[in-house]
Amino acid sequence: DAAEKGGYEHYMRKEIHEQPSALRQTLAGRLDVDGGDVDLDVSFPPGFLADLEEIRIVACGTSYYAGRYAAQLFEELAGVRATVEIASEYEFGAGRTPDRTLVVAVTQSGETADTLGAIRRANAAGARTFAVTNTLGSTVTREVDGTAFIRAGPEIGVAATKTFASQVATLAMLAVAVGRDRGALSAADARSVLKDLQGLPGAVQQVLDEENQVREAAREYQDSEAFFFVGRALGVPVALEGALKLKEISYDHAEGFAAGELKHGPLALVTPDTPVLAVLTEGARADETMNNVTEAQTRGAPALGCVSAGEEYDTLDVSFDVPDVGIVEPLAANVYLQLFAYHVANEKGRAIDKPRNLAKSVTVE
Ligand code: G6P
Repeated sequence: DAAEKGGYEHYMRKEIHEQPSALRQTLAGRLDVDGGDVDLDVSFPPGFLADLEEIRIVACGTSYYAGRYAAQLFEELAGVRATVEIASEYEFGAGRTPDRTLVVAVTQSGETADTLGAIRRANAAGARTFAVTNTLGSTVTREVDGTAFIRAGPEIGVAATKTFASQVATLAMLAVAVGRDRGALSAADARSVLKDLQGLPGAVQQVLDEENQVREAAREYQDSEAFFFVGRALGVPVALEGALKLKEISYDHAEGFAAGELKHGPLALVTPDTPVLAVLTEGARADETMNNVTEAQTRGAPALGCVSAGEEYDTLDVSFDVPDVGIVEPLAANVYLQLFAYHVANEKGRAIDKPRNLAKSVTVE
């Protein structure tokens, strides 16, 4: 067991640290940076992408947050309406055209019953279906019309970490492929996205190198009453995922919000005993988010921020530097939040790899 953990005390910490190499695997041989295109080895019937009306992502848990990130990329890069549905709530729905709809299941295991149920409903409605998964030969791959593998390697910790980054990276490549095919994305714009992706493994490594700073912050704030995570735009799914990670493994109360929503309710819960963790990077409307963080600070809340390198918000109690990687910068910020969750849980001696009541793969609806 100790050997399998490669010297780490938990699989989760090992898997957090594997992200640079997992991401390199995800991207290997798939980026044509000079040509401004990707080779994901996926195909669609002629004309299907050009006529596409909607990409509908279905997923659960961390994969759902990867989907929330990706939907924004599909709209921005592929110029197509993209929506995300919790798989257990998914119905084909009214006002849609099956043969102009692509339903994408995002599922690390490929075995989540809720996600398989959603894909079966999409297939029954006549939509085209697609899976983004980590698992060769998994059930989902047999039920969809096409699959892209995220190639993150096995993930043992119940709380998903490296697969989140690899899912988003794979979906970003798919967004580029769809955008190029539809003529919605220029080669120059594609090239800039691909460069961001290429820079991501190194950026994540730089974040991992700051682990001591995160451990100190975790020690300082671990006894707080609750933790709030906020962001805007691409920072929203990362805030939601940051809160999920913390609650899953530390059992502390944690919630993620769109920063603009703080004032519409959650602010009533904010006290000096509820730190706010904010995504203040590129792609996350950092200045506007910071205004909302300031509203929480006015009520006494400590504020921790993941801030783009070169930017500075001097009122933050803790500032984590995020390397400049453009459209995937919030993914690098997410690694700080993973480390924060890990160290809070570790300080409390929690069963990090097997949190109470949770399973790695949930095969019942
Ligand atoms: C379970 C796990 C989560 C995971 C979710 C979806 O709830 O505990 O970590 O995000 O299932 O799993 P999937 O394999 O479909 O990505």
